[in-house]
Amino acid sequence: MSYPEITRRKFLQYSAFGTLASTFPGISLSEDRHINKAPDKNFKPDVELELYAKTAEVPILSGAHTHVFQYTGKLLKGPPNSIKTLPGYLGPILNFERGQKVRIFFYNTLTEPVITHWHGLHVPQKMDGHPMYEIFKGERYVYEFEIDNPAATYWYHSHTHEMTATQVYQGLAGLITVRDEAEQKLDLPADEYEIPLVIQDRRFTRGNQLHYLHGMHQRMIGFLGDTILVNGQADSTIPVKTRAYRLRLLNGSNSRIYKLGWEDGTPLTVIGTDGGLLEKPETLPYLMLAPAERAELWVDFSGRKTGSELTLKNLSYQGGGPQMGMMGGMGGMGMGRGGMGNGLPQGKSFPIVKFKITEHVSDSPQLPEKLVSMQRLSAKDLTNPEKTLPIAIGMRHMSFQLNGRTFKMDDYLDIEKIPVNTIQKIRIYHEGGMGMGQGGMGGGRGMGMMGMMRAMPHPIHLHGQQFQILSRKNSKENSAYDTVKKGFIQNGWKDTVLVMPGEDIEIIKPFQDYTGLFLYHCHNLEHEDMGMMRNFYVS
Ligand code: C2O
Ligand code: CU
Ligand code: CU
Repeated sequence: MSYPEITRRKFLQYSAFGTLASTFPGISLSEDRHINKAPDKNFKPDVELELYAKTAEVPILSGAHTHVFQYTGKLLKGPPNSIKTLPGYLGPILNFERGQKVRIFFYNTLTEPVITHWHGLHVPQKMDGHPMYEIFKGERYVYEFEIDNPAATYWYHSHTHEMTATQVYQGLAGLITVRDEAEQKLDLPADEYEIPLVIQDRRFTRGNQLHYLHGMHQRMIGFLGDTILVNGQADSTIPVKTRAYRLRLLNGSNSRIYKLGWEDGTPLTVIGTDGGLLEKPETLPYLMLAPAERAELWVDFSGRKTGSELTLKNLSYQGGGPQMGMMGGMGGMGMGRGGMGNGLPQGKSFPIVKFKITEHVSDSPQLPEKLVSMQRLSAKDLTNPEKTLPIAIGMRHMSFQLNGRTFKMDDYLDIEKIPVNTIQKIRIYHEGGMGMGQGGMGGGRGMGMMGMMRAMPHPIHLHGQQFQILSRKNSKENSAYDTVKKGFIQNGWKDTVLVMPGEDIEIIKPFQDYTGLFLYHCHNLEHEDMGMMRNFYVS
C-alpha cells in the first residue's frame, strides 16, 4: 500500500517547519532533529536488542500472503526469552523484568518516517517515541531506559506524525510484558498457560491485501474493519487444557471498542489492568476494552468437556458513536467509496476467539484471593488539591480537539504546564458548548453534525506514569450507557481511559522523575492523526 497524498502532505509540512520558530527550548524541528543516534557508554544494559521496522509478506488468510509492515527483533544481550517471535505480522513480544536496563537499537528500513513508542512505560522524554523524533529510511534511534513499571502487559507501536493509524494498521505493533517479584510470588499460570490475545479489526481486498479507508467517515468515526484478527490471525481457535489460564489482552485496533464476554454467560475474571495487577480479582458480566487498553483475565477451563468449545465474543452495545446511516445526513461530505454499509458496525456482536478444550488434566492452580498490594492514590495525595487540570474534548472545524486546540509538534498551553514531581487531578470531559465555531456545519439537519459527534466515545491516553480513576459520572443516564456501564474496572493502574458520550471522569496522575514534553491524546488512531493530541510540558 502506498499513501502518496500523505507523503506529499508531510513534505509540505516539513518545508513549512523549517521557517517556524520552535516554542520548545532546545528542540528545532528542521535540520537539528536531536535524534538519539549513539549509545551512551555509561549506560550498562541488562538487555540489548535490535528492532527493525520492515516490510514483509506474511500468511494471514488462506491463499496469497499479505504485504505488511512488521517489527522484527534480534537479541544482542540478555536472557534468551527477552524476545519472543510470534507467527503472523505482529512484532515480537518483548519480555522484560522490572529494574532491567534496556537498550534498543531501532532501525527504520521503510521508505516513510517512523518512530516507536513504548506505550505505558515510564521513560524519559527522549526515550518515549514522541513524533518529533521520527527517523527516516536507513536511520537508527537508540533507546535506553530502565524498566520502572509494575508487572503488567504493555505494548509498543509506531507514533509517527499523522501516520500512526496507517502504520499500526499495517502491522507496526507488538506486546511488552513486564515481570516483577510481587507477581512471581503469585505463581500465576505461565508458559503455555499464559496466552497473549491482541485483538484487531482489519479489512482485506480480494487479493488478501490490507485495505485501509481514507474517507471522511474514517476521519470522524475511525476505521472499522470487517475481519477480526487475534494475534495477527483470522478465525483463531486456541487449544487449551482443563485448567486455569492467564490471558493478556490488548485492544490493538485503530478505533473499535470491544465489549468482551464469554458466549455462555460465564462472568469475566479480571486480574490486571493497563499498568499492573489488581489488588484482588474482580468479576464482571462483561468488560469494555477500548483501543490501547489492556486487561489480564483469569479463565479456568476445569470441568469442561474435552472436545467442547468456549468463545470469547464481542457483545452488542450502544453508544459507540454515530452509525453509518446517520452519516448520510452529512450532506456533501461524500461517503467515500468502498461498501460502507457492509462492515461490522461499532457495537455489533461477533465472535472473537474460540478456545477448544483438547486435553484433560487434573491439576489446576487456584485463583489467588489477593493479588498485589498497590498504592492507592486519593485526593489527599494531590500536590495542589485546589487545582484540576482539564482535558476538554471538543470539536471545531470538522476536527476533534483537546482543550480547544489541535496537535502541534512542540506546542503547549499554560494549562498544559505541569511541575515535575507532583501528583495532579485531571478532569476529562466533553466540552460544554461544543461550539460550532466558524466552519461548523450541518446544523439544523436532524440531530446535526455536532450532536452526532458529541455522541462519540474517545479512549484518552496519557503518556508517562500510570494513573488511577477517582470518579466516573455520566450526565445523561440513558439506555445506551446502560449497555456498557458494568464493564469498567475502576481500581487499578491505567494509562488509557474510555470516555463514553456524556461521561465526566476524574483521574489522579503522578508526573515524577522526567521533564519535557509528554503526549496525551485520543487513542482512536484516526482521531489522533487528525490532531486530537496535545503535549503536557513537565518542568
Ligand atoms: Cu499508544 Cu501516544 O500512544
Ligand atoms: Cu503511550
Ligand atoms: Cu477520539
